[in-house]
Amino acid sequence: SWWTNVEMGPPDPILGVSEAFKRDTNPKKMNLGVGAYRDDQGKPYILPTVKKAELAIQGLDKEYLGITGLPAFTNAAAELAFGSGSSVLSAKRNVTVQGISGTGSLRIGANFLDKFFTSNKSIWLPTPSWGNHVPIFKHAGLDVQWYRYYKPSTCGFDAEGAMEDLNKIPENSIVLFHACAHNPTGVDPKLENWKEMSQICKNRNLLPYFDMAYQGFASGDINKDAAAMRFFVEEGHNILLAQSFAKNMGLYGSERAGAFTVVCADQEEAARVESQIKILIRPMYSNPPCNGARIASTVLTTPELREQWLVEVKGMADRIISMRQQLVDNLKKDGSSKDWGHIVDQIGMFCYTGLTPDQVSNLTNNFSVYLTKDGRISVAGVSSGNVQYLAHAMHQVTK
Ligand SMILES: Cc1ncc(COP(=O)(O)O)c(C=O)c1O
Repeated sequence: SWWTNVEMGPPDPILGVSEAFKRDTNPKKMNLGVGAYRDDQGKPYILPTVKKAELAIQGLDKEYLGITGLPAFTNAAAELAFGSGSSVLSAKRNVTVQGISGTGSLRIGANFLDKFFTSNKSIWLPTPSWGNHVPIFKHAGLDVQWYRYYKPSTCGFDAEGAMEDLNKIPENSIVLFHACAHNPTGVDPKLENWKEMSQICKNRNLLPYFDMAYQGFASGDINKDAAAMRFFVEEGHNILLAQSFAKNMGLYGSERAGAFTVVCADQEEAARVESQIKILIRPMYSNPPCNGARIASTVLTTPELREQWLVEVKGMADRIISMRQQLVDNLKKDGSSKDWGHIVDQIGMFCYTGLTPDQVSNLTNNFSVYLTKDGRISVAGVSSGNVQYLAHAMHQVTK
């Protein structure tokens, strides 16, 4: 055969969790591995504004989009990210192209960096980072390096370690930041930390690449969740940005709408950059699909829908925030005297519980609670119906 040299690859760690969950017959089983929002009944949630937008775009043709996607969408995505009064947008200094959700958008950026960021092929990621970041950048030809970010002893941000490491990154390198709701830890730097990191990036001439997969989903406020990234832009950093509409519009699977932006020095540079991004996209998939872009742009640009969407995003964020609190309350009620404060201090879909791999195995084997070995739980999978059971199980394995 042609393929005798092809070795079996390792299974995806998160999909493995879901498969084991499916096989389990315990009626109390919980899947806290997968990162998709669930309502308080544990069911997938289609946003009512997305349903309305789908009705509004019914019957449109299915012609090809241009290589950079639907202009109404890329304009609306850029406006959502940078804010309507952004001087970058008014100066037309941004190149914003449609991508295949967050992952595809990150990958366009990775390929662009590999081809045109000539000073240094290293991208520095926080330790830990979203698992897919490593292959996204490595497969594009970049070299992945790490700076300290998460402090296991506090289950919080390692400000000292992060600053020390960022200060040692070779000048003219690329640094990746999670704009908000860091995955997998749920730990975000405070504004004062962002200010310091911005200054370090200036001192060392580092190129910040923001991954914003959760705008609005973290705090419930689209502006607050974009504040760190916007601060960098105001400070004069010409950043890169990848956006996803998977979480904040619930467009996980069938739509895959995202955007990749390069903030340029001026409009003339933006035109050159855009021309090259088109040359990268064309042989990968020619042009992106239109449906998700139509849905997202309809929601963002129709005033009543946008207003309602902001309420729906906040509803999802608030439910997660309330589940964090209920989990801590129930742990206390169940008799746990451990400090679980980090569960409420962390933000977004994920919580790094601090459970050890042995405690995770115990939770899975004896309580049918499924999560990744690093102790990360998707808080979106917790509901008022199962939070007490989860707290009890967590107390049993940690006492
Ligand atoms: C940090 C981070 N970046 C990007 C993504 C991209 O997701 P998608 O490709 O589904 O938009 C995710 C999704 O889990 C994520 O957590």
